[in-house]
Amino acid sequence: MTGGTDIAVVERAAELWQHVEGVRRAGGSVGLVPTMGYLHEGHQSLVACSAADNDVTVVSIFVNPLQFAEGEDYGTYPRDLDRDRELCAAAGADLVFAPSTEEMYPQAPITSVVVQGLNSILEGRYRPTHFDGVTTVVAKLFSMLGPGRAYFGEKDYQQLAIVRRMTADLSLPVEVVGCPTLRAPDGLALSSRNVYLTPEERPAATVLWRSLQAGRDVVTAGSRDPDEVEAAMAAVVAAEPLATADYTAVVDATTLARPEVLAGELRLLVAARLGRARLIDNLGVDGDPA
Ligand code: PAJ
Repeated sequence: MTGGTDIAVVERAAELWQHVEGVRRAGGSVGLVPTMGYLHEGHQSLVACSAADNDVTVVSIFVNPLQFAEGEDYGTYPRDLDRDRELCAAAGADLVFAPSTEEMYPQAPITSVVVQGLNSILEGRYRPTHFDGVTTVVAKLFSMLGPGRAYFGEKDYQQLAIVRRMTADLSLPVEVVGCPTLRAPDGLALSSRNVYLTPEERPAATVLWRSLQAGRDVVTAGSRDPDEVEAAMAAVVAAEPLATADYTAVVDATTLARPEVLAGELRLLVAARLGRARLIDNLGVDGDPA
């Protein structure tokens, strides 16, 4: 353990277990907030949620190489453990787990957790190995800590759906809790990757939020045609010279399948590139308005 006045940072899985074992034996509840660090208020809101629900809250900080493909930003992903530790303490966390890559993967893993089908649509079309890396590391974190609850942001909506499905399919004894997306006042969803935006790109990045709102407006105006909704969303991104859309989509909020006729709880999703930044965002909308 590295010393600290505010909050302890544990680097070893065995030590992590020791820290929470006593709490668990005494009947206390343990919450986990998995992160890749470079924390912001979005992450902190998950920590606050967990701290309200549980006796002990652990934040894991690990930039997981398994979920980055060749050519993605693994090497340049922003890192600042000292600052993260302060933000964790301020949000009410009790412990930070920051393992090295060697601690997490002492040998190159030949086992992985694959949530088939859900891993290859939407984000998965652009990042084919990404979700297998996510589910594998999240399953490992669940095993290393044994949390009763784990907190994930709706910001990464497909990730949340996939983690829920993994947990159900494998009967993992963890309650997966989804938390709302925190946004800047102009609508841009908070993200560690927003640091890649240049001052010129930053105002243009609201295009994701504007695209989602345009899609929502088409649904609330009565359209039941997914093509219409997606076209309205795509048109907003196309009108922004600094942005290029990877996809705009409307799907069933639970199955992530694209309905032929819009109904029930829907989710609008958008992914766009602005310079070095590749950003994603999403929004819930009722396909059966009163
Ligand atoms: P990371 O991108 O650091 O995000 C950690 C958690 O914070 C995720 O559950 C994410 O959805 C949530 N989050 C990010 N931005 C948010 C915002 N603006 N509002 C609310 N919550 C937000 O997602 C990952 O890390 C990794 O894939 C991980 C699950 C840790 C596995 O490596």
